[in-house]
Amino acid sequence: MTSTWFHIAALAIAFLLVFASGYRMSRIGKPYPTGIFTAHKLASLVVLAFLVLSVRSVNGGSYPTVLEWTVLTLAVFAMLATMSTGGFVSAPGRSSQGLAGRLHRVTPYLAVLLAATSLVIWWD
Ligand code: HEM
Repeated sequence: MTSTWFHIAALAIAFLLVFASGYRMSRIGKPYPTGIFTAHKLASLVVLAFLVLSVRSVNGGSYPTVLEWTVLTLAVFAMLATMSTGGFVSAPGRSSQGLAGRLHRVTPYLAVLLAATSLVIWWD
């Protein structure tokens, strides 16, 4: 397996882990099981790291265009928005039915879509 495919596979697996643990926590509700909650947070950091590594890997060395930078920046923003809304949802005394909870049910899909689009358009 080349390092490019390794990075993309690690990104996909980390995303799957984050989604699976997220759905599980939604079903269980508060208090979230520590193991699943920790896995969810750690895997979300792995997603962010491998998004950047994957984009670097698929770029064959050409100078990135404004469109490529814009989509990657939006993908990173979507990730950060997902992480911060996740932080609000999990804060003590906060309900998952509030604004942060509703956003945390939408921003993950935006993050996947923008991450996948970044990989496609950065590919040389
Ligand atoms: C890459 C970043 C992340 C992604 C893609 C993500 C994705 C998800 C998904 C898909 C769900 C299930 C939502 C649903 O029921 O439809 C979820 C739930 C949840 N996430 Fe995340 N998440 C991320 C980061 C975080 C972080 C950093 C935290 C905490 C600091 C967090 C805390 C939570 C909590 C507490 C729930 C359960 C909410 C509930 O009770 O309904 N998430 N997440």
